[in-house]
Amino acid sequence: MDNKVDIFDTTLRDGEQVPGCGLNKEEKIIIARALEGLGVDVIEAGFPISSPGDFESVRAIAENIKNPTVCALSRAVEKDIETAADAIKRAARPRIHTGLGTSDQHIFTKLKSTREKVIERGVAAVKLARKFVEDVEFYAEDAGRTDNEYLAQVIQAVVKAGATVVNIPDTTGYCLPEEYGQKIKYLVDHVDGIENVTISTHCHNDLGLATANSIAGVQNGARQIECTINGCGERAGNTSLEEVVMIMRKHRWLPYTTNIVTEQLNPISRLVSKTMGMPVQPNKAIVGANAFAHSSGIHQDGVIKNRENYEIMDPKEVGVDESSIVLTARSGRAALSYRIKKLGIEVPAEESDTIYEKFLELADRIKLVSDQDLKELLSQNLATSSH
Ligand code: KIV
Ligand code: ZN
Repeated sequence: MDNKVDIFDTTLRDGEQVPGCGLNKEEKIIIARALEGLGVDVIEAGFPISSPGDFESVRAIAENIKNPTVCALSRAVEKDIETAADAIKRAARPRIHTGLGTSDQHIFTKLKSTREKVIERGVAAVKLARKFVEDVEFYAEDAGRTDNEYLAQVIQAVVKAGATVVNIPDTTGYCLPEEYGQKIKYLVDHVDGIENVTISTHCHNDLGLATANSIAGVQNGARQIECTINGCGERAGNTSLEEVVMIMRKHRWLPYTTNIVTEQLNPISRLVSKTMGMPVQPNKAIVGANAFAHSSGIHQDGVIKNRENYEIMDPKEVGVDESSIVLTARSGRAALSYRIKKLGIEVPAEESDTIYEKFLELADRIKLVSDQDLKELLSQNLATSSH
């Protein structure tokens, strides 16, 4: 099996469902262009039936984006599928993403239907979508809580009906990584013709397992990961694009590749955060403000001696200029003199103890010492200073 994993970005659809973070057409086009520059394979541009504005956004993205596949979401409903097809008809590579719930929870209490009827609806949806486009992705909503035997029957039926990609969402973020991986493996082992379609992961982060589950899916045969920039999305969000990409790139045990230009990860993270008005938590992996910041004395000393003592990736690889040595009351002498040197200032050896003490007093008071604070401290306390 080929080890290339397709990156399906759904920032503009599932990601944009964050309350208060909806995007207008112009904003969506800007992000879609940045996603194209990032090298994603598929952009899920929106849910065209949901509103006239989203229809227009999907249409504009379909017209403006050339390399990635442009995908539109629909329910397994005739009008939805026709509207999705209309919105993406000018795309260079159009895809319709259609499907419905397959867990007993969804079948009986949401769809008020039966297992048999759900299979019929899924098959009819795929067949209709195939009349408009060659590339049809089927999603089995809440597959995470769907029993594997029935899930395999559903997937078997939609593959036969012409689905080219089968999406196995852990919609509620419920699965454990091993359980999700086994689910994918069960499909690989029990669905005839599965080797001719792409299996996709689509994991939510309700228990903080979206990234781990997506990787487990790939290790068991999935070759597409659905994810969002910064892991944004409804509730606790979706699988974070930057995390899965860097796991596959950095981990020596994993043979998988993607087309992502990783140097774009931080710039696009900032773009999405700013456009959505959704701050990124400082300790977020890869793109958080503290992802390459070292503040404790022991770590700082280690990083100054050799960056790899405390970093498993080069910040430049993900678009961050350099690691930062931040000055707090937990910082040591090595960090202080490193930062002073960076300012181009020399502290005579006989004054270094006093400067360090003054620095600790200041750091205890103000918590984070900036370059400006440091310059002021030196000009006030260095006997020999002309600063
Ligand atoms: O989480 C989910 O199940 C979804 C589907 C609509 C693909 O977002
Ligand atoms: Zn989702």
